[in-house]
Amino acid sequence: MTDPLRSSLPASPRFRRLRRSAALRELVAEIRLDPARFVLPLFLVPGRGQRLPVASMPCVFQLSPDEAIREIEAALAEGICACLLFGVVPADQKDERGNAALDPENVVCETLRLLRGKNLPVVAITDLCFCEYTSHGHCGPLAGIGRDGFRTVDNDATVGLLARQAVNHARAGADVVAPSGMMDGMVSGIRAGLDAAGFTDTAILSYAVKYASAFYGPFRDAAGSAPSFGDRRSYQMDFRRRREAVAEAAADVAQGADIIMVKPGMPCLDLLRDLRERLDAPLAAYQVSGEYAMIKAASANGWLDGRAAMLESLVAFHRAGADFVLTYFAREAARALREGEP
Ligand code: PBG
Repeated sequence: MTDPLRSSLPASPRFRRLRRSAALRELVAEIRLDPARFVLPLFLVPGRGQRLPVASMPCVFQLSPDEAIREIEAALAEGICACLLFGVVPADQKDERGNAALDPENVVCETLRLLRGKNLPVVAITDLCFCEYTSHGHCGPLAGIGRDGFRTVDNDATVGLLARQAVNHARAGADVVAPSGMMDGMVSGIRAGLDAAGFTDTAILSYAVKYASAFYGPFRDAAGSAPSFGDRRSYQMDFRRRREAVAEAAADVAQGADIIMVKPGMPCLDLLRDLRERLDAPLAAYQVSGEYAMIKAASANGWLDGRAAMLESLVAFHRAGADFVLTYFAREAARALREGEP
């Protein structure tokens, strides 16, 4: 006898069949994390033997070039293939225009030369921006007073300087340059500058979709790049706008960006999905400092399982459509994966 109640119900799929065992779950998992898809960001300071903790980012250090090399060697041994270099300069080396960014002897160029001298098989990506080098902490030289009542960044002058910074990095050995300043036309300006100097093989990873975000707070400690007045909303994007993200990224691809990036990460999973569906360029997500700090702080308080939250967040970027993730968790996640997923 069939149960009259059951037979009158519509057939319900038994989703739980494929969740019954760890082996079944592995079989149908759509995403498997791989350290080769993590990029390790590094903050570089002048000197030797320097390893200075960043207060708001537990386990992250400002490193002198020699220490950075050791860090990269360790990361390579853990299966990571790429690093992102940020230069941090002392306050007395900063000026209005950020000239230290263009010095071929600065920490970024020094680290690149060390890397290349040792023939390390790492993809060396460099951040192109001036906020770490200007006395005012904005992302390029300033123009006149903007509508918000304070001086804003001079777009076209900054593009020219970014091209020079890119050539310096390429000459020192960068594989990829990553402009993060959100200047209009920055990708074509940098491409033209690189090509004219003979660096046709140097790739551009554009911070194509970068919102003016509160989640960059800890980075500004780590890189000493907090703006001394105003904010970045006259050049970084307004996070209340979604459709503009596709236009920004498409413009960067049209100008010659080889890879496009969305930043911050977790607050922008919808945009990763939009770009994945609308564009074919390789797509990166940046899990920024504030996202890292939140997980670390909650974990330190015993409010969540930090390891599980880290791995879940990294899966989320891939599920949203990212090909790879720039993350301060790169090494910790690589080690967690080696130990096996929970
Ligand atoms: C700008 C830059 C920033 C970050 C990466 N590149 C800071 C900013 O725009 O204020 C933030 C990264 C992070 O928060 O981890 N050079």
